[in-house]
Amino acid sequence: MPMSTVTGETGSGCGAGEWSAAESVVISRAVRNAPSVHNTRPWSLALHGRTAELRERPTVLVQHDPDGRDRRLSCGAALVNLVLAIRGLGRTAEVAFGSSAGLVTATVTATGRAEPSEVERRRSGAVLDRRSCRQAFDGTGLPARTRDALLEAVEAPGVTGRWISGAEETLGVARLLTYAARAFRDNAEYQRELSSWTTTTGEGLRREGFGEQGLAAVGLATGRTRLPDEFALAARMQREAVLVVGVQPEGPVDQVRAGAAVEQAWLEATSRGLAASVITQPLHLTEVRSGLAAGLGLVGAPQALMRFGAQVGR
Ligand SMILES: Cc1cc2nc3c(=O)[nH]c(=O)nc-3n(C[C@H](O)[C@H](O)[C@H](O)COP(=O)(O)O)c2cc1C
Repeated sequence: MPMSTVTGETGSGCGAGEWSAAESVVISRAVRNAPSVHNTRPWSLALHGRTAELRERPTVLVQHDPDGRDRRLSCGAALVNLVLAIRGLGRTAEVAFGSSAGLVTATVTATGRAEPSEVERRRSGAVLDRRSCRQAFDGTGLPARTRDALLEAVEAPGVTGRWISGAEETLGVARLLTYAARAFRDNAEYQRELSSWTTTTGEGLRREGFGEQGLAAVGLATGRTRLPDEFALAARMQREAVLVVGVQPEGPVDQVRAGAAVEQAWLEATSRGLAASVITQPLHLTEVRSGLAAGLGLVGAPQALMRFGAQVGR
């Protein structure tokens, strides 16, 4: 049987050892709803027999992501949605990584049957509800057990999470982030690329979802972003729960794993009714990455910042 590519389409298959059309729809919809850098969905998905193959696609964001790190993080997020969709169908999901022409592939084999765990059920139920929320949050009242659950969701082999806490630490991070936002805001070529991926309707990075204040604005600086000073930013950050996700070592597959960890935490938050968003833009400046790692004493290389909280005004 020829391999059916289902990026945005429905795969075919009807025998006992193949995905049914309905299963293919469930799987491709879950993958499509994964978060991705600039909403580029830099992967392709192919279903064959009882396997699903996710391949990194060489979408090149020359200005934003020249090394492809965000692309691989995005593939990791898509992989989580893929695995959860398969588990939600009551099948086992064994993941094997490979690479072809320098691009990571993840093959998921689903030949067995097994009911999803309670956590898998809950997170897979959140896949279609997850969104980037770039409004102001209130994370101050996040109970310790919720913070622990989010941290646990991020932790995976080589991947660690670290909450930013305390006035001094927050101010140090705010300084790095305002520095990065200024650099990106004032970089005309960077802004040209960002606006080419920005749309007001349909596909792409939706302009109406952009943050206007605080960390969300600083985390996706455009030519129009009004930057707060570092003290104002630090004060706002202290009202949110901000997690740094790092990975060690930092090979391509490790970056996919880090992206998977980010999505696990995001889905965990969504399933608990929390708002969240992910920020990587500042981490594309080497000095910000190293400043963050040194300032926070991180074990791994920083991959993403995640912000969580209850949406203000709800
Ligand atoms: C690897 C990665 C990097 C991202 N970087 C940023 C970022 O720096 N700033 C930001 O506001 N959103 C960032 N996002 C969020 C994406 O813009 C968002 O997932 C995409 O536009 C789809 O929208 P949705 O999350 O609401 O489905 C990132 C997402 C991923 C997966």
